[in-house]
Amino acid sequence: MIIAVTGTKGGTGKTTISTNIAIGLMQQGKSVSIIDTDEGQFSVLDWSSNRPEELPTVSVLKVPTEKIGAMAREQAKHYDVVILDGRATQTEGTDRLSAAADIIIVPVKPSEFDIRAFEKYFERYKTVKAISDDVGKKIEAFALRSDVKKGTKGEKELVELLEFIKEQNPGKLRTFETTIYDREIYKQCAGYGTGVAEENNKAAKQEMGQLINEIISIINEF
Ligand SMILES: Nc1ncnc2c1ncn2[C@@H]1O[C@H](COP(=O)(O)OP(=O)(O)OP(=O)(O)O)[C@@H](O)[C@H]1O
Ligand SMILES: [Mg+2]
Repeated sequence: MIIAVTGTKGGTGKTTISTNIAIGLMQQGKSVSIIDTDEGQFSVLDWSSNRPEELPTVSVLKVPTEKIGAMAREQAKHYDVVILDGRATQTEGTDRLSAAADIIIVPVKPSEFDIRAFEKYFERYKTVKAISDDVGKKIEAFALRSDVKKGTKGEKELVELLEFIKEQNPGKLRTFETTIYDREIYKQCAGYGTGVAEENNKAAKQEMGQLINEIISIINEF
């Protein structure tokens, strides 16, 4: 199973989600490999270099854009789940990542700019999906509300706008039930090389656990 965490906008939480779902899925007994496709930053590699030795090792590879598809397929032979951590661009690289995946997760933050950027990504995705449908490859895209301040007007607007986009595009977009809220622990985990599933913040653990359950049931649908 190949999961791409992607989008055309920077700083939406792609790497935060990639690393946290990797740890969460590993805790549920899945073998996981992360492919860091963000040439120039390679944030997942930074994260894994901070990881304490006593914790389970996470496989992380860095791959140039043109090799994403081949490398993802190769890793998928050896691991239950391959996670592609995307790079924020409006280029063919983003389309390659989408095309390589079974499941696409697009983190969206509650801001006008982020919603606009999501719509741009989604237009590109629809072309990739049309081609995938044509060749009989199943692909499913999910928006994930990310880095949200709980109980704000922004949260409410984000929910409504994503519902609207979904209604306008029947069968082409799904959203997660889970919302990933703005929590300090996510920033800290980046420095610790861990996931919130390995830390003591109850609320973060609970929301990540809920997201992992959703992802596992989606994997089981395929
Ligand atoms: N839920 C959250 N709560 C608090 N901080 C968060 C959350 N999600 C992301 N952040 C912080 O926001 C910043 C951007 O997150 P991250 O690096 O995961 O985004 P990205 O989409 O991978 O960015 P890029 O496009 O640069 O690769 C980081 O400092 C991260 O710690
Ligand atoms: Mg990143």
